[in-house]
Amino acid sequence: MSDESKLSVVILAAGEGTRMRSDTAKVLFPVCGRPMIEHILNAASAVRPDTIVVVVGHKGEEVRREITGSWAESHHMEGRLEFAWQLSQKGTGHAAACARSHLPGDCGHVMILCGDTPLITGEMLQTFVQFHLSEETGLSFITTVVDDPGAYGRVRRDCHGRVARIVEANDLLPGDEQIREVNAGIYLVRKDLFDSLLSRLDDNNAKHEFYLTDVVEMAVQDGFKVSSFVWQDSSVVQGVNDRHALALAEARLREAIIKDLCLSGVTVRDPQNTYVDYGVKVGRNTVLEPGTFLRGRTRIGEGCIIGPCSEINDSLVGDNSKVWFSVVEDSEIKKRVEVGPYSHIRPGTCIEPEVLVGNFAEVKNCVIGSGSKVHHHSYLGDSVIGRRVNIGAGTVTVNYDGISKHKTVIEDGAFIGCNANLIAPVKIGKGAYVAAGSTITSDVPGGSLGIARERQANKEGWVAKRTEKMD
Ligand code: UD1
Ligand code: CA
Repeated sequence: MSDESKLSVVILAAGEGTRMRSDTAKVLFPVCGRPMIEHILNAASAVRPDTIVVVVGHKGEEVRREITGSWAESHHMEGRLEFAWQLSQKGTGHAAACARSHLPGDCGHVMILCGDTPLITGEMLQTFVQFHLSEETGLSFITTVVDDPGAYGRVRRDCHGRVARIVEANDLLPGDEQIREVNAGIYLVRKDLFDSLLSRLDDNNAKHEFYLTDVVEMAVQDGFKVSSFVWQDSSVVQGVNDRHALALAEARLREAIIKDLCLSGVTVRDPQNTYVDYGVKVGRNTVLEPGTFLRGRTRIGEGCIIGPCSEINDSLVGDNSKVWFSVVEDSEIKKRVEVGPYSHIRPGTCIEPEVLVGNFAEVKNCVIGSGSKVHHHSYLGDSVIGRRVNIGAGTVTVNYDGISKHKTVIEDGAFIGCNANLIAPVKIGKGAYVAAGSTITSDVPGGSLGIARERQANKEGWVAKRTEKMD
């Protein structure tokens, strides 16, 4: 016995995506930083499905690997996200049929989605479910009206305006060219109908594929109630078949992300030139200047100024910090820190509050204690820097001997003079000074001055003597 209220989702993601002209599976192309398939999964999870079955095939193992890990866990779908294999790509109808054995026996309805419509939203699918249940139809699908129907399937209606069938772009008959209403590729079907219709599909068409769209005509002819649900905003159901459509989808999603940020209290100075990945969080009163890229798992606090021209990847930035003309990767920057202009914070770095890193500084895999200053063409790698340390212009931690990386420790309050080389492993003790121009090869104890350079000699009258010689 099926339970009317139980719903499962099937996502078709086995196609080759020939029109992308790529070796990567189409559904793994990122849209605003997340693979296309993940956007579909996110939308699907909003209808609280009992099970989600992703049909994979072309590059299927890569697709499976990409979404198996954290997605199911973070969306409370552990054990309810399944993969069905379509070993040869014989069309969308064949793909849907491959999911059959994975659907729970008691499921009442099946929602079928395509893996290449990344702009669909959870709210849209929820509205569609309500429509389908209230209409008490056997089969419903979403349509939309477009100016240029291109490769979409056309919705052919009878003289009473009732849906008759979906005609694929390659199988149009005279008169079909005028149809502007197209199939969005989103269906809801009663489970018993799903089973019986799919088992009767054939590949008698221009592409010799098993078209899922043929189930519409079959259901109509069998006398079942078939309903279409017209979605006004056609851009939301845009399918991504080539990289131009991918660029358009990305632009639309980016616009939506920026709008949400603005409405939540973030100032975005130039929306056209600000790129924020899906899922990135930005706190209130933060300003995003032009040319800012916030990627991956990045979180920006409140009251920050980010940009102009900065890229922050998979990093945390605390409240009231500023990052300008700089790149930050896989690092943590705490409160009231200033990074830039022209600095590069490389992976594994943790910068404590009130630190200044700027003017052509590079920092990699370091901890920098609060109140320290790192300026002017310096390089710090694999180092632990204490609090209120001053790193002079041109300081370099010499962390690599060609074979291994070594650690530099600079304790609280130390002062490193300009142009010092600190040959790691080495430790500069608490409050110690390193004289400008030194090449430090052994530890400097706390409170001491480390000086390691030639003593200066002034040769008095040298210039005059030289001139005499030349006469
Ligand atoms: C499909 C519809 C079309 C609709 C459009 C909406 C069919 C026959 N046509 O066309 O009516 O207007 O979507 O975007 O359904 N797939 C498989 N296995 C296959 C073939 C495809 O899993 O053997 C998957 C693809 O990975 C893709 C989805 O099904 O995610 C849609 O396939 P695609 O080839 O893009 O169909 P369209 O030509 O866009
Ligand atoms: Ca498509």
